[in-house]
Amino acid sequence: MAFDRRIRIAPSILSADFADFGREIRAIEAQGADWVHVDVMDGHFVPNLTFGAAAVKAFRPHVTTFLDVHLMIAPVEPYVDAFAEAGADMLTVHVEAGPHLHRTMQAVRAAGVKAGVALNPGTPADAIGQVLDLADLVLVMTVNPGFGGQKFLDMTTKIAAIRKMVGNRPIHIQVDGGIDSGTAPLAVQAGANILVAGSAVFKGGSASNPDEYGRNICELREAAKARP
Ligand code: DX5
Ligand code: ZN
Repeated sequence: MAFDRRIRIAPSILSADFADFGREIRAIEAQGADWVHVDVMDGHFVPNLTFGAAAVKAFRPHVTTFLDVHLMIAPVEPYVDAFAEAGADMLTVHVEAGPHLHRTMQAVRAAGVKAGVALNPGTPADAIGQVLDLADLVLVMTVNPGFGGQKFLDMTTKIAAIRKMVGNRPIHIQVDGGIDSGTAPLAVQAGANILVAGSAVFKGGSASNPDEYGRNICELREAAKARP
């Protein structure tokens, strides 16, 4: 079975209503989200604080697609088991979160969860050269992490370099930050296939007006196919 590199839209619930996550998750999935992207921030690795493993456990029963957990925390290893037990389908750890990336990714896989590796904008593609065989996904940050609604940083050269490194390994390439109908085609053309979007999906909608989410998701999916 060939690796399924189709485009997937992964809305980030960082842009959702923090008082209504269950309903928001059900709404974006009903409106066509392929994955649910959960931005875990510890106020140390990034200058913002969101939620921990207990929250991910509470999200789990509402997710019927794929629970994609982006760990913007350091250290990360002490928390791998807690997030795996909370029900994450994937845990993505940052190259920059500590000195033992290889060991951490081994721990993620040992916990029975898919393993992603993320690079901040200032981190070169080569930083993941030694862990590709442990990775199910590479996340190329297109903003400096911590907040939604930031401007896209052009990482297309880095995305293309990583796409080349991946070759025909079954590894997804994900982008995250400032992804909208204008920047999606650039990222896809460079080699990305999983698009994380917070503000571009949630803008103008709400759990009680979810059709806007559906329109935004369709617009992103269409834009992703366009030639930049
Ligand atoms: C930022 C987070 C991103 C963010 C994307 O640090 O990792 O997932 O939520 O938000 P937008 O799509 O609004 O840039
Ligand atoms: Zn993220």
